[in-house]
Amino acid sequence: MTQTATYTMEAFVDDVKEIFASTKDPLAQAQAVADHMQVLLDVPDWLEEKLNLPEEGGFGRYDLHFDEDSGSPEPGFLLMCTVQKPDQDNLPHDHGAAWVVYGVYDGAIEQTKWRWFYKGEGVDSPRIKETGRFVQKNGKVAFFLPGEIHHTRNITGGRALVVRLESQKLTELTRYQYDPNANTVKKMDR
Ligand SMILES: [Fe+2]
Repeated sequence: MTQTATYTMEAFVDDVKEIFASTKDPLAQAQAVADHMQVLLDVPDWLEEKLNLPEEGGFGRYDLHFDEDSGSPEPGFLLMCTVQKPDQDNLPHDHGAAWVVYGVYDGAIEQTKWRWFYKGEGVDSPRIKETGRFVQKNGKVAFFLPGEIHHTRNITGGRALVVRLESQKLTELTRYQYDPNANTVKKMDR
């Protein structure tokens, strides 16, 4: 592991490939990738240099590295970044068979976690309910294992830059979105 002030996105990608080669355990993979992303987040300016962002705006998603050769459960991991609007959020969702590491490069996001509750757990019919939330600030990482349900909200008050490592490109996977008001689940469009 390269742990110097000169750690680069390319070195991070190499480390991620090595992690996929060294273990098939999704938890061990996600934890190790999160540790390395933590080091990368401490390097100043690397993301601006890759994105060439305007001073304001530039909202959207930017792919940084797609890897055809390694990933989990199948090859095809993706390193990408989202440039989020103030208050930008999404519905609770899972990541299919993939795990995802989130790193906040600039700003702060709120992470909210959910699960289904069933009869015998204080509900009359199946309900999707919040199980906790935390604020993920500038320079912090968090990961979600396959099957976990969460949603994010940008609470920066301005633009937020969030780096994401998808163990297999999410648009290639079957995954689901959950509506806590209607207590429904539906397959997400790819
Ligand atoms: Fe997510």
